[in-house]
Amino acid sequence: MVDIVPLSSYPSYIDLLPAIQTCNITNLPENYFLKYYLYHALTWPQLSFVAVVRPRGGYKTATAGGPGAAGDVSGQYPKVVGYVLAKMEEEPSDGVQHGHITSLSVMRTHRRLGIAERLMRMSQRAMSESHRAHYVSLHVRMSNTAALRLYRDTLGFEVEKIESKYYADGEDAYAMHLNLQDQWLDWKAIEKKDRERAKAEKKKKGENAEEEEEEDDQDEGDEVGELGKKDAEKMIRVKVGRGLGVGDLVEKNEAQAQS
Ligand SMILES: CC(C)(COP(=O)(O)OP(=O)(O)OC[C@H]1O[C@@H](n2cnc3c(N)ncnc32)[C@H](O)[C@@H]1OP(=O)(O)O)[C@@H](O)C(=O)NCCC(=O)NCCS
Repeated sequence: MVDIVPLSSYPSYIDLLPAIQTCNITNLPENYFLKYYLYHALTWPQLSFVAVVRPRGGYKTATAGGPGAAGDVSGQYPKVVGYVLAKMEEEPSDGVQHGHITSLSVMRTHRRLGIAERLMRMSQRAMSESHRAHYVSLHVRMSNTAALRLYRDTLGFEVEKIESKYYADGEDAYAMHLNLQDQWLDWKAIEKKDRERAKAEKKKKGENAEEEEEEDDQDEGDEVGELGKKDAEKMIRVKVGRGLGVGDLVEKNEAQAQS
């Protein structure tokens, strides 16, 4: 059973990075330093996903008093069978906020199972929902039929241009992109729906509809901590300063004097 999880969700995703790097080295000639994976994971934790086969029988959590705290599963790695490494373009040349697929690969043993498609769709969704990316871009070797089919036919990417000698060995690349604006979330509409649902639930419980109308425009949160007590306790101004004697600095005495 293959699970696809955000890179950031594994108990310690730093543990998985070497396995992701191995997956990349096994499948592609474009390789990166480990710190580049870490940079992606730390900077855009929502955008990179990893396909893992979890240990048979699940993780064995450490017993209390054993090495590591209870619940610690470090040291037991799931097997990485695919990944998508993605980012937001930091200085987009066109000035438009967009995502970019840095690298994608799936181990030969697990190909044609729909893993790459899922990895890509999850990353695209995160780009549009978390970052409001206008589009996602990538490069692909012109000879890479499998990846081209995936991007163009399955996912709907379009070729923007050909970049001559893009790769280190001199091969040209297709620069491709896919519009993501149709996947943007309308947060105002979502919040409105939530408010309406909450209102309907309140009404069901038989609360006064007029009161609810009034509440609509109010700050929804209850006051927290000391702020919430401001009516109960009277604020008292106290004298402070090195020149004051101990008696002058005792707040309690002043409070009593005023009440
Ligand atoms: C390209 C790659 C990531 C595809 O991974 P995958 O998990 O096997 O792909 P999926 O199973 O999600 O395939 C989805 C669709 O892509 C297309 N596709 C995938 N592999 C294909 C192949 N070998 N030949 C033709 N089409 C292919 C098909 O349209 C497929 O849909 P289908 O299976 O319903 O026909 C994988 O072959 C790989 O890792 N290749 C080496 C690394 C690489 O090229 N990465 C991309 C760099 S830009």
